Amino acid sequence: MAQDNMQSNSIDRSSQPTRRDMVRGVLAVGAAAAVSTFPSFVHAAGSDVLKVGLIGCGGRGTGAANNALNADPNIKLVALGDMFPDKLETSLLGLRQSQHKDRVDISPEHQFTGWDAYKGVIETCDVVLLATPPHFRPMHLKAVIDAGKHVFCEKPVATDAPGLRSVIETAAKAKEKNLSLVSGLCYRYDDAKIETMKRIHDGALGDTINLNVNYLTGGLWSNARKPEWSDMEWQLRNWLYFTWLSGDLIVEQHIHSIDKMMWMMKDETPAFALGNGGRACRTQPAYGNVYDHFNTTYEWKNGVRCFASARQWDGTANDVSDWMYGNKGSANIMNHTITGENAWKRKASPKNMYDLEHVALFKSIRNNEPINNGDYMTKSTGAAIMGRMAAYTGLKVTWDQMMNSKENLAPAKYEMGPLEMTPIAVPGKTKIV
Ligand SMILES: NC(=O)c1ccc[n+]([C@@H]2O[C@H](COP(=O)([O-])OP(=O)(O)OC[C@H]3O[C@@H](n4cnc5c(N)ncnc54)[C@H](O)[C@@H]3O)[C@@H](O)[C@H]2O)c1
Repeated sequence: MAQDNMQSNSIDRSSQPTRRDMVRGVLAVGAAAAVSTFPSFVHAAGSDVLKVGLIGCGGRGTGAANNALNADPNIKLVALGDMFPDKLETSLLGLRQSQHKDRVDISPEHQFTGWDAYKGVIETCDVVLLATPPHFRPMHLKAVIDAGKHVFCEKPVATDAPGLRSVIETAAKAKEKNLSLVSGLCYRYDDAKIETMKRIHDGALGDTINLNVNYLTGGLWSNARKPEWSDMEWQLRNWLYFTWLSGDLIVEQHIHSIDKMMWMMKDETPAFALGNGGRACRTQPAYGNVYDHFNTTYEWKNGVRCFASARQWDGTANDVSDWMYGNKGSANIMNHTITGENAWKRKASPKNMYDLEHVALFKSIRNNEPINNGDYMTKSTGAAIMGRMAAYTGLKVTWDQMMNSKENLAPAKYEMGPLEMTPIAVPGKTKIV
């Protein structure tokens, strides 16, 4: 399933996509097909049509819109929102050529761009899909839940602790309001991973000794700066490479491994993290202020440790794998294999986990059984932020230090124009804030 995730990423990440590539990518995602007392505006029971809108019309967002359309025959995609008109147009073109074109009903008045695009989408829809760069997630999620709408929320859910605290509050509010909040931490919706984790949680490995999780891949896309772009536009169009926008690769991509680590540990938060990282290959200014590798040790209060590695280096070996070792055996999560006293193996699931997230979302709305993935999506994001803080500072960072951190990565103002880049972190000099 590592491949699934990497394919989803590669829709727009492995190279500079042309418009035709984007459309093809969208169509490919669409091919993998598979579904009160809610607030009164959502007449969602039975066959009622639900109006869905997307905020952040890039590769994953367009893919998520297709997954939603695959999941429930009675939804309509009625609104798109993106910072940039060209991104919105590419997405719309792909969706209008997809197998679901009859349910893509987006009038010009429902195509929103700019900083406030999210407001228009939220107002127009019953269910909102959030897939912008992660920095905006806390703000957008809050607006969706305040407006009383259901939500699919891509990972990660924040890039700093103030954002994380906001999402924790918003997730609690979603619960109070009986709204569904489904997270894009997709492995949690994969049948084969669910079965493997259940066996581990039921004791197949005995007492836990340690864990190891890896996300070792090549580099991702970048967009060469155009003379007409302001600093802000350059950063937004290359959001992976700016910590305020992506959280760095440990938060943006390695979160998939960190989330499986948390899942193996029954979502108990680690006591502390200690880590290394730096820029070994991506040293040019085009790569902003992020690192290109992280090696983190997480330790729990019972002394169990997880060794977590991530890097994005071109021309090197790939390894996306997660392991747990106990006194009765070991597990390879990505291969759904347990060895030792309780040896077991199963095949990958034929079902698409990205579709299953949306099947669960719409079913929960129609059955008035709200899903709230707030707990694990915030804990996994928090563990990733904690690992980044440990690598950036070179210090041991406790869970409480991360949770109470005042480091607010947001720019002084949200507008196109000059925006100075925060200096690249230097371990031993960069402080815990
Ligand atoms: N679950 C997964 O396997 C998976 C895979 C890929 C990406 N993702 C996540 O999905 C999100 C999007 O990633 P992507 O690969 O689609 O990136 P992308 O760059 O292709 O798309 C992001 C889009 O958001 C738009 N945008 C930026 N700021 C905005 C704002 N303030 N308001 C509205 N639109 C804005 C951009 O213009 C762009 O079109 C990220 O959080 C990423 O981590 C998840």
